[in-house]
Amino acid sequence: MRPLLEAQDLHIRFGGVVAAAGISLQVYPGEVLAIIGPNGAGKTTFLNLCTGYLKPERGRVLLEGREITGLPPRVITRLGVARAFQIPQLFTEHTVEENLLLALAAREGFWRWTTLREERRRHEAKGFLALLGLEGLASTPVAEAPEGVRKLLDVAMALALKPRLLLLDEPTSGVSAEEKLSVMDTLVRALKAQEVTAVFVEHDMEVVRRYADRVAVWTEGRIMAEGKPEEVLQDPQVLASVVGVEE
Ligand SMILES: Nc1ncnc2c1ncn2[C@@H]1O[C@H](COP(=O)(O)OP(=O)(O)OP(=O)(O)O)[C@@H](O)[C@H]1O
Ligand SMILES: [Mg+2]
Repeated sequence: MRPLLEAQDLHIRFGGVVAAAGISLQVYPGEVLAIIGPNGAGKTTFLNLCTGYLKPERGRVLLEGREITGLPPRVITRLGVARAFQIPQLFTEHTVEENLLLALAAREGFWRWTTLREERRRHEAKGFLALLGLEGLASTPVAEAPEGVRKLLDVAMALALKPRLLLLDEPTSGVSAEEKLSVMDTLVRALKAQEVTAVFVEHDMEVVRRYADRVAVWTEGRIMAEGKPEEVLQDPQVLASVVGVEE
């Protein structure tokens, strides 16, 4: 099967820090791939390299075989790669529904405040809210919503761009232990329903075990192991460098 996304030998340094020291990775259509690894290993850097926020010093990024290395983030988004952030990028003074309407309007490029609430757009927004189980919270101001809701709203806004690939940086960070699994259940169900391939950075090994089809382990800008969670998370070296530290 042809990879949806392929990284080939990515390198980048920040001063003396090597954040990517030859990263090669394939992401296949339909899979959910987890990236784990200690703080500072280069996980977020990898997402930034794939989405055009950073340009590699060496190496290439391919989307369905087409080179996208270093293209501007908005161009890469338009090609079908969306991003959800560790700290959701939301308009906190607006409601859940308004945030989604803004995402839908932004997708169309040109819009005005006066037409933001057009019926067809509200209808589409409703669909995305339902997809993430947020329909009951449509008129809640984001500032008053729990972190789990903000994360799901951020995902809804990313999915509104109709991506083929969604890159998520720590979707459960800041989410309470009780909320974590239900947030991930909802998120993964939405990805599957929309047939969106996903890569997510995660520190919680329970979440990785339950939701990842495959896992890649980062250390010091390199991938030290890759495979099925039940195998990779048994590897003594992985346990020592990642799991032991984090559990
Ligand atoms: N824009 C930047 N400028 C300078 N240094 C950076 C930049 N981005 C990342 N770094 C450095 O590169 C290294 C890798 O950072 P990165 O954020 O990718 O790690 P991470 O694996 O996402 O860590 P965490 O689990 O803490 O989020 C770190 O040492 C970080 O300080
Ligand atoms: Mg990070």
